[in-house]
Amino acid sequence: MIALTPSPALADPMLPARFRLDTVRPEFSDVFTLELSPLDGPEPFDFQPGQFNMLYSYGVGEVPISISGDPDRPAPLSHTIRAVGAVTRALQRLEPGTMLGVRGPFGHPWPVTEAEGADLVILAGGIGIAPLRPLIYWVLNRRRRYGSICIFYGARSPDEILYLTELGAWRARFDLCVEVTVDRASRDWMGKVGVVTKLLANKTFSAPDTVACLCGPEVMMRYAVMALNEQGVDDSRIYLSMERNMKCALGFCGHCQYGADFVCRDGPVFRFDRIAPRFNIREL
Ligand SMILES: Cc1cc2nc3c(=O)[nH]c(=O)nc-3n(C[C@H](O)[C@H](O)[C@H](O)COP(=O)(O)OP(=O)(O)OC[C@H]3O[C@@H](n4cnc5c(N)ncnc54)[C@H](O)[C@@H]3O)c2cc1C
Ligand code: FES
Repeated sequence: MIALTPSPALADPMLPARFRLDTVRPEFSDVFTLELSPLDGPEPFDFQPGQFNMLYSYGVGEVPISISGDPDRPAPLSHTIRAVGAVTRALQRLEPGTMLGVRGPFGHPWPVTEAEGADLVILAGGIGIAPLRPLIYWVLNRRRRYGSICIFYGARSPDEILYLTELGAWRARFDLCVEVTVDRASRDWMGKVGVVTKLLANKTFSAPDTVACLCGPEVMMRYAVMALNEQGVDDSRIYLSMERNMKCALGFCGHCQYGADFVCRDGPVFRFDRIAPRFNIREL
């Protein structure tokens, strides 16, 4: 596991640092990307792929959101968000130039060091590609350290494909494979249709050499684990990012408890063999 770099914001980890909102970029329907610059402390804001921040809309509340930008070019700090409730909608309404609070970065990252030398399978569903995008940047910035890289991405519809331009650029490269599928196609969609886990079934992996990183709805990750297991990929080589409601993000309050683990402190990225017995219990 790589060392986690404390950020300037962590001087008091309960105290949000002030950030200026530079850009609000609508992605599609209720999904948008915020780009932020720090007003307190020095730039850049160092983070590892897979870590998250607590974003605070003043007077409304605080929510955990994964960092979605390039860890090697952390300014501006990017977060891609789906507006689902009070805080995320308040974040969506913020005007460029306004201020918001940031605590972080928190959590265990994707296994970028453990995966060196391995073939990588990166599988995302919907907005789950946001926490995986920093991992993609990371491995592409260090391409020679990794074996083959396959990115599988499933969106609900062609209009809901996140980071379309980058996906296109990555797909044009000769040193990685990118496959995209949608649940519901429009007339002009020429690509694949069907659930993202179907893409796995059509590929063969060298199971002992593969490390898989998954993020998306839990049901999708459940089927993806099954598909990877069928290909012979062991649970100890599968990593996934979990979401739970959070308050402190520091392992104090217990809001994010997941069996014996706290998602904020022990996750959000877990090696699957650690959580496998709990993962199939839906109430947890
Ligand atoms: C580590 C981590 C990283 C995350 N990264 C992102 C991200 O990059 N982009 C993003 O859009 N969201 C992300 N989330 C989810 C995000 O934190 C929630 O959507 C947010 O807290 C909702 O707050 P709200 O006040 O807007 O809505 P609320 O009023 O709190 O909730 C609105 C609805 O969303 C449901 N909900 C709330 N939190 C979650 C959750 N964690 N998972 C599933 N459903 C939930 C509620 O049950 C309710 O139905 C992440 C969560 C975690 C724990
Ligand atoms: S959010 Fe408080 S323990 Fe995880």
